[in-house]
Amino acid sequence: MEKQEVRDCLDRGMFDEALRVVPLKDIPQFRIIGSKYNILPDIYRILEKENIEAYSFFDVFSGSAVVGRFFKKMFSVISNDNLYFSYILQRALIVINKCPSFSNLNFDNIPKDPKERVYRILHYLNNLKGVEGFIYRHYTPASKDADGVERKYFTTENGMKIDAIRIQIQEWFENGYISEDEYFYLLASLLLAVQKIANTSGTYGAFNKFWDARSYKPLTLRYIEIIPSKFNHVAYNEDIFDLLEKVTCDIAYIDPPYNSRQYITNYHLLETIAKYDNPKIKGKTGIREYGDQERSVFCSKKGVQDAFFKLVKGLKAKYIVISYNSEGLLSKNQIIQILDEGGLRDIRFYEIPYRRFKSNNNSRKNIVGEYLFIGVKENGEL
Ligand SMILES: C[S@@+](CC[C@H](N)C(=O)[O-])C[C@H]1O[C@@H](n2cnc3c(N)ncnc32)[C@H](O)[C@@H]1O
Repeated sequence: MEKQEVRDCLDRGMFDEALRVVPLKDIPQFRIIGSKYNILPDIYRILEKENIEAYSFFDVFSGSAVVGRFFKKMFSVISNDNLYFSYILQRALIVINKCPSFSNLNFDNIPKDPKERVYRILHYLNNLKGVEGFIYRHYTPASKDADGVERKYFTTENGMKIDAIRIQIQEWFENGYISEDEYFYLLASLLLAVQKIANTSGTYGAFNKFWDARSYKPLTLRYIEIIPSKFNHVAYNEDIFDLLEKVTCDIAYIDPPYNSRQYITNYHLLETIAKYDNPKIKGKTGIREYGDQERSVFCSKKGVQDAFFKLVKGLKAKYIVISYNSEGLLSKNQIIQILDEGGLRDIRFYEIPYRRFKSNNNSRKNIVGEYLFIGVKENGEL
């Protein structure tokens, strides 16, 4: 395919096998602050333009796992995030290369074809009778009785469904009926379903006062397309500073939090559904107790510059690629200085404009920039 044709495909949001990246239609959109879903084509285009030759791609701050999924046919992906819900998404969306067989789960007349089998299992889970469990008790209007605060994250029906499904998946896993891959596949499908019916404006730092239309939809687990890849992929659930020594890669892609909003406070409820560990919770929003390992230094105005430098210095990579929002805690010049002092060569800078939020108002105020920096660390060439 000619370069211009490739560009045209990218511009139209069309990706195919020849491009070696995963089509956007096969990448589930997850509502997370700083998601790179909308600029995946731009990142691809820039790597292409810079002619970066690489085998392994380290998605240092994976979040919704969309970046690793997009590149899983092109590189061997190593991904990481300190939040467990992200780890679940990484395992399902990146690491799994072939349709889980669910060979130990036997229902009456369960189909032999792996895909059909998955549909049948999802259908079974979607039709479980609701359970009055942790989510129902603390995150639906039933919380008024349990905690004296009425929380409206989920309708009572959906809260009970989340509990029933979460408990069933755990039971199957603990009794050896499903493998680890199958376990993470089902949990990811649950997380993706949850964010479609949550009564929030995107994060879980608050719930809406009135019920949004989305919250009345019944929670429905859906089939997640499996993307085959000739590469092996690996996922981690660690603080990045505990991982630096363990990973060597060609490209290290750094997409850290860019403002002071901690992910653990904004996604506490996803973390609780992911871990299902009956945490201590408090306050109007029912936030779970969390510790230093879940708090990010990249959200601290005081600590971010040193942390960034330590990260750039410590990563064992040929190329460093950084995404950062133009309205972030660090300025463009501060980042360039960090890269420079961190010993990087051939530093390149791009600015990708995108709309901050959907609006009929086309004023420039709604356009923000996503910065992309590329630098060469060791043995690489631009
Ligand atoms: C901007 S988001 C990444 C978004 C991701 N690229 C996407 O498109 O969905 C930053 C992520 O960094 C994670 N994070 C923050 N500090 C971390 C740390 N010290 N170690 C590992 N992960 C961290 C957060 O949990 C969050 O998921």
